[in-house]
Amino acid sequence: MKVTVVGAGAVGATCADNIARKELCQELVLLDIKEGIAEGKAQDMMQTATLLGFDTKISGSTNDYSKTAGSDVVVITSGLPRKPGMTREELIGVNAGIVKGVCENILKHSPNAIIIVISNPMDTMTYLALQSTGLPKHRIIGMGGTLDSSRFKYQLSQHLGCSPSDLNAVVVGGHGDTTMIPLIRHATWNSAPVSDFLSAEQQEKIVKDTMVGGATLTALIGTSAWYAPGAAGAALVEAILRDEKKLFTCCVSLDGEYGQKDICLGVPVIIGKNGWEKIIDFKLNESEQAAFDKCAAAVRSMNDVLKTL
Ligand code: 2OP
Repeated sequence: MKVTVVGAGAVGATCADNIARKELCQELVLLDIKEGIAEGKAQDMMQTATLLGFDTKISGSTNDYSKTAGSDVVVITSGLPRKPGMTREELIGVNAGIVKGVCENILKHSPNAIIIVISNPMDTMTYLALQSTGLPKHRIIGMGGTLDSSRFKYQLSQHLGCSPSDLNAVVVGGHGDTTMIPLIRHATWNSAPVSDFLSAEQQEKIVKDTMVGGATLTALIGTSAWYAPGAAGAALVEAILRDEKKLFTCCVSLDGEYGQKDICLGVPVIIGKNGWEKIIDFKLNESEQAAFDKCAAAVRSMNDVLKTL
């Protein structure tokens, strides 16, 4: 199997490093527009192979998409990361053009690829990838909810004093500081509702802290986070290449599901060898559905900005 990661910045390089260590594919290509950065990071990763015990063949390319030809999965991380105080949506002016160009090159060299979008604003970049490639909708996957759900479990684990892996919790909606919806009503600690162990105030704080999880780290680090976003991208690559049929929340094209059409939003989906294979209905209650519709309106207005660029 062959995987390409476009963008050798912190997120892309971390995603590639996770993919290589897990030996998810035989061939891994890291591509960046900046001279030398992808080649250098690829060689650096290859020089860990004997230390970490993997046989993945990693190569780097400076914007030569012929090296990526025939990729089974392509992860798009290219574009600017946000700075402290910025929203993801503010990146649209620069990143839309970058992502569009990347999609055109991917389509030319890997027409059968499944595309995972990480670049921000992720919901709109996913919609752009679908529109600009014209690929079947199940092969275009936005990563956001996978990352946000992992942050949601982290926040829950901090309050419950438990292992994050004992938690089931998902975030749906958008990948924005005000558009994501941590579904705390559905969250469980092993099989018990977390609401059995947390006060209403604690639940509210967990939801709020999850929503600004990315912004909190950007304020601390000075740029967008990369360990969890990179690992989330690699987890989706793993579920695809190993046909795991695992449930994640990912940004996918809706055609009436959750009451929305002609939009890409985060919903529970089954990820396997065909990309996202099925949308799962978590039966939102009235207030959750209202929040979902509000987030859809916000994402739709961002999608409309694409027409002005
Ligand atoms: C984040 O939330 C980069 O959007 C990504 O960290």
